[in-house]
Amino acid sequence: MRHGQRGAAFARGGEPGSIRLCGGAEFDAVWSIINAAATAYDGVIPADRYHVPYMPVDELRREIGAGVRFWGWHETAPAASSARPGPAGGGWAPAGDRLVGVMGIQDVDDVTLIRHAYVEPTRQGTGVGGALLAHLLALASPDRPLLVGTWAAASWAVRFYERHGFALVTPDEKDRLLRRYWNIADRQVETSVVLRLREEPRDTASDAATDERMGRGTGPDTEPCTR
Ligand SMILES: CC(C)(COP(=O)(O)OP(=O)(O)OC[C@H]1O[C@@H](n2cnc3c(N)ncnc32)[C@H](O)[C@@H]1OP(=O)(O)O)[C@@H](O)C(=O)NCCC(=O)NCCS
Repeated sequence: MRHGQRGAAFARGGEPGSIRLCGGAEFDAVWSIINAAATAYDGVIPADRYHVPYMPVDELRREIGAGVRFWGWHETAPAASSARPGPAGGGWAPAGDRLVGVMGIQDVDDVTLIRHAYVEPTRQGTGVGGALLAHLLALASPDRPLLVGTWAAASWAVRFYERHGFALVTPDEKDRLLRRYWNIADRQVETSVVLRLREEPRDTASDAATDERMGRGTGPDTEPCTR
């Protein structure tokens, strides 16, 4: 997958799809995927941190307002399987093009954060998350440290990021980074970890990708996901 590409791609299982910036019309679909995938946390993360829905609509709206740009894996699927209600009963992507995974990217001060990585439960483990992460790493500026935070107890997520070149920072560094670059409660700081992309030469973004980096493109399908 090359930077900014919106053509056909394939997940590891061979399923055809494409990676595109999520638009406003996909807000409900993004919300649904996040909350369906977040059920993985049930009984794993501290009980006082888990609630349903895991990501309330207003929180997602705030995150997008704060600059998180969601990219999505759109699976090419039969039209009949594309209908699913969102919080407002709203729509999905056009029939035959179903969003099944999302991942956000956000510049905060001098760093870039990977935010809210979620793949529909039935598609987890098929390479969708890996393809999305590779896409975001290629879009991110090589001049900015790349960080990701997750629950300490979500061992699968930690392994997922480690396999893609991230390494855990020390507990002290974790506290410092979470307080500096994230806007989260103290309890979440206590129960989270932070990983940083290892300093190795990165596949830097092309000029075209730089234009649409972080979802700042102007084309109709690069409209930010807002509602
Ligand atoms: C973490 C997550 C985004 C990764 O996306 P994904 O599409 O499942 O990722 P991939 O398929 O690219 O890679 C998952 C890895 O776990 C393995 N795996 C096997 N079965 C799996 C399963 N049922 N679920 C997840 N991963 C599985 C895969 O083989 C792969 O390992 P590999 O890279 O060594 O081959 C996704 O699993 C998810 O939404 N999890 C629940 C929510 C979550 O933890 N989010 C992270 C927030 S920071």
